[in-house]
Amino acid sequence: MTHVFKKPTRVAIVGAGNVGATFAYSLLISGLASEIVLIDANHAKAEGEAMDLNHAMPLGRPARIWAGSYEDTAGAVITVITAGSAQRPGETRLDLVQRNTEIFKQIIPKIVENNPNGILLIATNPVDILTYVAFKISGFRRNHVIGSGTVLDTARFRYLLSQHFDVDPRSVHAHIIGEHGDSEVPVWSLANIAGMRLPQYCAVNELGCADETLNTIFEQTRDAAYHIIERKGATYYGIASGLVRICEAIIRDQGTVLSVSSYIDEPYYGIEDVCLSLPTIVDLDGVERIIRLDLNEEEVIGLQKSANLLKNIISQLKI
Ligand code: 2OP
Repeated sequence: MTHVFKKPTRVAIVGAGNVGATFAYSLLISGLASEIVLIDANHAKAEGEAMDLNHAMPLGRPARIWAGSYEDTAGAVITVITAGSAQRPGETRLDLVQRNTEIFKQIIPKIVENNPNGILLIATNPVDILTYVAFKISGFRRNHVIGSGTVLDTARFRYLLSQHFDVDPRSVHAHIIGEHGDSEVPVWSLANIAGMRLPQYCAVNELGCADETLNTIFEQTRDAAYHIIERKGATYYGIASGLVRICEAIIRDQGTVLSVSSYIDEPYYGIEDVCLSLPTIVDLDGVERIIRLDLNEEEVIGLQKSANLLKNIISQLKI
């Protein structure tokens, strides 16, 4: 007989493709969830992934993993949505918009019906638009609808900076904000290592810090997904790790600062009524608070452009 957890920590995953399955595996390894349910329109695929994951369990940490239905989202702390069409080579994230909105119109009401109190974590692209769509369709409080946003871009940025500065990426503090996509904005003015802004860190440590080099680092961050998709057809390890990190902040009530996407309900440099990424405190209740950054003029303009681009797409959507 299967062990029944008395007080399970359930995470539901909608979409058992590359991202969903890799996330399920990373979540299993993390030990954060005692129950992981995989839901997919192709039930056999979800079953196959669940079977394979179950065989990893005796070698890792115990959890209950199965292929389920929307009814199984009941009681989930977090329902992670990875379902939808993925980018094809040469396609932008925004090209996917109406296709994946239609899928969300099917999925979200079924989750809301079964799990009105859980947190929705959206990974499907274009993630900012679909976070907005999920927020509107679900009728959930804004705290409970989170997009993976630029958590991944911020990780890519910190990794690339860490390579340049030859330091642990966890010791690089820098954020990418705005759209998870082509209009995203690097917050250079606040980026730091050991509390030292980059120009000062470079000067003191006699390191090269030319604008051109830093700009290339940002371009590689912004365009990373295109380069990976060209080579292997999809990206999934980075995003899966980002999703686990967000789940950890929620399940463990950590109050971690993460650049997730969420609904902006109060003017932020004049921006509102859109979902985009900003450094945000994430805890058991989801979005606890968005941090007010002291941005320079160029960054403000970049962020406003990014917001306007997203708002323009939202205004043409049929939700
Ligand atoms: C990524 O940035 C495609 O959004 C996905 O890897």
